[in-house]
Amino acid sequence: MKVLVTGIDGYSGWPLALHLLARGHAVVGIDNFVTRRRVREVGSWSATPIPSFARRQAVLRDLKGQTISFYRGDLGRYEFVRDVLAREHPDAIVHLAEQRSAPYSMIDVRHAVATQTENVRSTLHLLYAMRDHAPDAHLVKMGTMGEYGTPKVPIPEGFFEIDYRGGHDVLPFPRQAGSWYHWSKVFDSGDVMFASRIWDLRATDVMQGVIYGIRTPEIDDPRLLTRFDFDETWGTVLNRFLAQAILGLPLTVYGRGGQTRGFLALEDSVQSLTLAVEHPAEKGEYRVFNQFDAAYSVQSLAETTVRIAAEFGLAPTIAHPPNPRIEAEEHGYEPIHEHLPRLGYRRTRELDEVLREIFRDLRRYRRRLEAKRHVVAPTVDWRRGDNRGEIGARAPASSPPPGPPSS
Ligand SMILES: NC(=O)c1ccc[n+]([C@@H]2O[C@H](COP(=O)([O-])OP(=O)(O)OC[C@H]3O[C@@H](n4cnc5c(N)ncnc54)[C@H](O)[C@@H]3O)[C@@H](O)[C@H]2O)c1
Repeated sequence: MKVLVTGIDGYSGWPLALHLLARGHAVVGIDNFVTRRRVREVGSWSATPIPSFARRQAVLRDLKGQTISFYRGDLGRYEFVRDVLAREHPDAIVHLAEQRSAPYSMIDVRHAVATQTENVRSTLHLLYAMRDHAPDAHLVKMGTMGEYGTPKVPIPEGFFEIDYRGGHDVLPFPRQAGSWYHWSKVFDSGDVMFASRIWDLRATDVMQGVIYGIRTPEIDDPRLLTRFDFDETWGTVLNRFLAQAILGLPLTVYGRGGQTRGFLALEDSVQSLTLAVEHPAEKGEYRVFNQFDAAYSVQSLAETTVRIAAEFGLAPTIAHPPNPRIEAEEHGYEPIHEHLPRLGYRRTRELDEVLREIFRDLRRYRRRLEAKRHVVAPTVDWRRGDNRGEIGARAPASSPPPGPPSS
């Protein structure tokens, strides 16, 4: 198959591309490198040094003899999206290229508007370009489990049956997102569902849990590593805990720590997306996959991190600063995930072993963590309308970066 990966330079896009190539697919990529720029904007960088995309392509060619056709450009420009689809006619499009940070979207009005307009616009551009230039392609759209919020009933895969006042129907399950970013994904879901119906497109909307890990089997050389963000804006909770453990900082469990979410290892996320690509939806079908392995509370993740850290001679403590987010801190959580196992999905990685692997990798890049130790603590507060001062205030005036210049 020919697979177009939007966001191919990102945390999950790069390992996915490597895996698709290893399975014999042709890979075309799009990226505008905005994540690299925005991580710099908040004064941080990837703990793993990431070569430029041109360098990544060269390394891939030298090491494995594989090539990726790459288009540098912004999905926000319709002509660009249209031209790539018209030229490439992909069989599948994995759409990962969106602003993906909830705290970033909560910084202020400018960041909220940028997140929602960019994300919704990019998806609409892809849908229109598919309609006119790749109507048989299968769109695998990356959403998030965060679309659902934390309802007090089991969370189905997109749709549920309802009896109400004598009527019966199968309806989209209500969404209760917890940030402007998560709401942008809800709007995307509505648009993808609607476009599939009116234009007979094929689409899989992936409600993905939080991903953890740096490695996949194809990442067998340090030059092929994917990015690892650990700052409060771009680092997900486990990444921040791991960085804090290595830096000798307390692990910051926001509030009581009962917040529970679905998680899965990077390798299993790549496996799931590949299964979706290789088992396309039917024409006109819009299907939803919940994509996670297990649900963990933030407190239990902190305790697991402390336990594994001890194996590496580290003794982090756990702190409970006030929660900067507005969310339930104790709640039930019962999401269902049956579609992917039906396609053959099997969990391959356990949390403990992946945490050990990350500790081993991160110790090698300790100096890059040290250089940015001031960016891990939370400053973006959901209650404040403008957090720019807090983000800017914490960065030291000038700190010469050690190591190679990479994002
Ligand atoms: N990482 C997670 O834990 C997680 C969990 C759930 C959902 N997701 C979703 O998965 C997707 C990929 O996440 P990720 O962690 O790889 O993010 P990422 O930011 O590392 O990767 C996204 C890539 O897309 C590119 N991009 C963004 N906007 C673009 C645009 N308008 N035009 C061209 N390129 C653009 C960025 O430069 C970046 O390389 C996102 O949609 C995110 O919302 C991620």
